[in-house]
Amino acid sequence: MLSTEHSAAQPLPAPFERPQQRATIQSANVYRADALAVYASWPTPTVIVSDGAYGVSGFPGDPPNTNTLGEWYEPHIKAWSDKADGGTTLWFWNTEVGWATVHPILVRYGWEYRGCNVWDKGVGHIAGNANTKTLRKFPVVTEVCAHYVKVVSFEFEGRELSMQDWLRAEWLRTGLPLSKTNEACGVANAATRKYFTNCHLWYYPPVAMFERFAAYANLYGKPSGRPYFSLDGIRPITSDEWRRMRAKFKLMHGITNVWSMPPVRGSERLKLTGNTSLHANQKPLSLTERIILATSDPNDVIWEPFGGLATAALASILNDRQCYTAEITQSVYRDAVERLRVESNRLF
Ligand SMILES: C[S@@+](CC[C@H](N)C(=O)[O-])C[C@H]1O[C@@H](n2cnc3c(N)ncnc32)[C@H](O)[C@@H]1O
Repeated sequence: MLSTEHSAAQPLPAPFERPQQRATIQSANVYRADALAVYASWPTPTVIVSDGAYGVSGFPGDPPNTNTLGEWYEPHIKAWSDKADGGTTLWFWNTEVGWATVHPILVRYGWEYRGCNVWDKGVGHIAGNANTKTLRKFPVVTEVCAHYVKVVSFEFEGRELSMQDWLRAEWLRTGLPLSKTNEACGVANAATRKYFTNCHLWYYPPVAMFERFAAYANLYGKPSGRPYFSLDGIRPITSDEWRRMRAKFKLMHGITNVWSMPPVRGSERLKLTGNTSLHANQKPLSLTERIILATSDPNDVIWEPFGGLATAALASILNDRQCYTAEITQSVYRDAVERLRVESNRLF
C-alpha cells in the first residue's frame, strides 16, 4: 500500500534537513535530495525530463506565479548544461506562459529549441468546472512539453564555430578541394551538397560518413595540419564521440505535436485512502514513455530532476533505460519508491 501520511500542504523541507537517501529499484536510482545537490554525481544524460515548478503553487516551493520562475530554474538549467553533451535531449514540461518565461534562459545556456508539444487533456478536464458566466478566457485544458537539444560548438583558431561551419573549416584546412569530400564518402556529389555546404540545406553527417571523410582527410590532407577533425589536437574524433554529438530522435508513425490524452485516471492515478490524488501533477506514463522512446535507446541515461511519483523512472524501468531521479520532499520520495517497487514486483 502507498503511504497515507502525505499531505499536499506540507512545508518544503530545508534542502539538507535530513541526510540524502537513495533507493535503487531495477534500473532506477531515486534520490531524496535537492536535485541541485546530486546532478554532479549523475552520469551524462541522453534525456532530461523536466517537470518542475509551474508558477502555480502546485507543490511546496512552486512559486505562486511565473514572475520568479526563471530564477527558480536557472541553477538547474546551468547544471544540466554543464553535464549534457551534444547527444542530450531536454523535455521541458510547463504551462504555456511558464515555458515562455523560461525559454530565453534555456537558449542562453545552449539549448536549441526543436518544438513545442501540446498536451490536450480534452474537454473532460473542465467538465462541470467552467463557469461560463464568470470566466473571462477560454478554459485551459493544456500543458506544453517543449523539446530542446544541446548545441555543440567547436573551437577553431580561437573562434567558436557551429558544427556546420567547423566541418567546412576543417576540410578547407586540409588543403584538399571540397569536391574531394565526395570521393572520401564514396558518393557522386552528396557530401559537398549535404555535409559541407554553407547553406541552410546542411545535414549532420552520419557516423559512417564522418568516419570516411575524417580518415581521408588525415591520410591525404597536408601533413603539417594533422590531425584533422580532432577535438584535442592529438587524434581525430572517434565514431562513438561523433555519435554523441547529435541528439537521438525516432519519429513514431502518426504522432504529431498535439498529444490528446486525458489526465491520469483510473488505476494509473495513485491515490490516498479516499479519492484524493497522491500527487497533483502525476504525468501519464504513456506520454512519458513516448518522449523517452523517441529520444533514447536501451541502457541510455535518463534524468528526472523533479521526481514527484517518478513517472520517468517507471518508464525507464519498463523500457530498459537507466534513470536518475531526485525528489526533495520526504513523503513524496517514499511514495515514488513504493510505486516503483510495486510496479516492478508486478513485472519482474
Ligand atoms: C510537477 S511535480 C513532478 C510530477 C512527476 N512528473 C510525476 O509524474 O509524478 C514536481 C516535483 O518536484 C519536486 N521538487 C521540487 N523542487 C525540487 C528539487 N530542487 N529537487 C528535487 N525535487 C524537487 C516537488 O516536490 C514535486 O514533487
